[in-house]
Amino acid sequence: MPDQGSDERLQHEFNRWAAEGEGEKMERHHLDITEKTIRLMDPRPGERVLDLGCGAGWATRLLARMVGEGPEGFGQVVGIDVSDEMIRHARAASKDFDNILYVWGSAQQIPWEENFFDKVLSVESFYYYPDQERALAELFRVMAPHGRLFILINLYKDNPYSLQWVDKLKVPVHVRSSAEYIDLLKKHAFVNVEARQIPDDTPTPDDYQTKSFNSLEDLRAFKRTGALLLMASKPDVRNQAPGYTIY
Ligand SMILES: C[S@@+](CC[C@H](N)C(=O)[O-])C[C@H]1O[C@@H](n2cnc3c(N)ncnc32)[C@H](O)[C@@H]1O
Repeated sequence: MPDQGSDERLQHEFNRWAAEGEGEKMERHHLDITEKTIRLMDPRPGERVLDLGCGAGWATRLLARMVGEGPEGFGQVVGIDVSDEMIRHARAASKDFDNILYVWGSAQQIPWEENFFDKVLSVESFYYYPDQERALAELFRVMAPHGRLFILINLYKDNPYSLQWVDKLKVPVHVRSSAEYIDLLKKHAFVNVEARQIPDDTPTPDDYQTKSFNSLEDLRAFKRTGALLLMASKPDVRNQAPGYTIY
């Protein structure tokens, strides 16, 4: 069973972020790298997409506009987050959408059926998952055969500037290298596993105030080095639905 205590700690911390308006502010910090990733995802009308660790839902809404009505039917985006407060913010900002569903839940036990999602996006969330191996097994389970996975990670060994955050964060995080993540995805039976660095091309003004970095030069170098984008596919296999015992 997933470690309930770790999820509660994450829920508590990210509820605090949500209450302080950080969910909405993250759009500014993650938009450039997320738009580049979404271009590679190439969401099509009719597709079913998961946004795992969706926060305040701004990327979920970008995706929902792209998968809307198409010749193959109506596309749908599901946003899942461990913070119920983030989910509340996301729902409040998405009232005009009829193809988004936000669900409170954890990557450790994704509250969804097997073989469902054509594409998965996860922005700046994966390194918080207490058991990343379990999260990958869960992602594999809920993805459709040939489904495509896109994980963006700003905190990783090959971007030394990102390591300044580790001590500032109030929850434990994983710090792995690109090569280690590739091995992990392969170990979990994903295929076409690929990693790329996605630079953040937004300019940093000279009067910008940063609490996360030791200097503006470090922040600029961090952006130039870029986020790690992991891409992978589920092979042509279907997961069996679990057997239930009815008492
Ligand atoms: C840095 S924020 C990024 C949010 C959003 N993707 C964005 O870019 O604005 C990380 C998000 O991951 C969520 N998260 C952390 N651990 C999680 C878990 N185990 N399962 C689901 N979501 C999780 C947090 O609640 C938070 O909303």
